[in-house]
Amino acid sequence: MPVSRELFRAISSSFPTGVVIVATLDERGEPKGLTSQAYVGLSTEPPLMLVAIDRTSRTLPAMRKHRAFVINFLKEDAEDVATLFASKSEEKFRNLRWEPSPEAGGAPILRDLSLAYAACRVTEEYEAGDHIIFVGSVEAGETFGGTPLMYYKRAYAAWPEERPAPPVEQAR
Ligand SMILES: Cc1cc2nc3c(=O)[nH]c(=O)nc-3n(C[C@H](O)[C@H](O)[C@H](O)COP(=O)(O)O)c2cc1C
Repeated sequence: MPVSRELFRAISSSFPTGVVIVATLDERGEPKGLTSQAYVGLSTEPPLMLVAIDRTSRTLPAMRKHRAFVINFLKEDAEDVATLFASKSEEKFRNLRWEPSPEAGGAPILRDLSLAYAACRVTEEYEAGDHIIFVGSVEAGETFGGTPLMYYKRAYAAWPEERPAPPVEQAR
């Protein structure tokens, strides 16, 4: 018999992770996004990244339609924004500076809040329980460095030290 919901959550929350905002555009061209931990740097050759989105997410229809997204890897000072993007607010982008990614069809890059971002085009979509898995081909990205925002046992914290961004010969 599968484990209970409570035990599943307790096991899952024993794993500290970084935090990303997955951002896309809806059919009217309005930005949509959510806070996520379910990120995997899946494949280097070809470059693929994976995110998983809950069936109840309001961002999900936009992801399915737009078929491109930006993964914004958050810095420590983005905690308030991470909390906002984990809510059901209709105005998540209202007070945020963002720029459209040409390689992700205009999906939002949150440059000021991020250690790095990856602009992806959806190559595959899988149903998996109450989530939909999106695999994206990484078309562009940049790294900026800074201190990462982490999530563990349902609370945010900063990574204990800052490390320089890795050198990248070809960032875009
Ligand atoms: C740290 C953290 C990680 C999360 N990870 C995910 C995730 O990987 N996938 C997901 O669908 N929701 C995840 N959520 C929940 C969503 O952020 C939340 O349901 C949000 O309200 C969805 O917004 P939307 O309905 O506007 O898309 C996470 C929340 C937090 C706080």
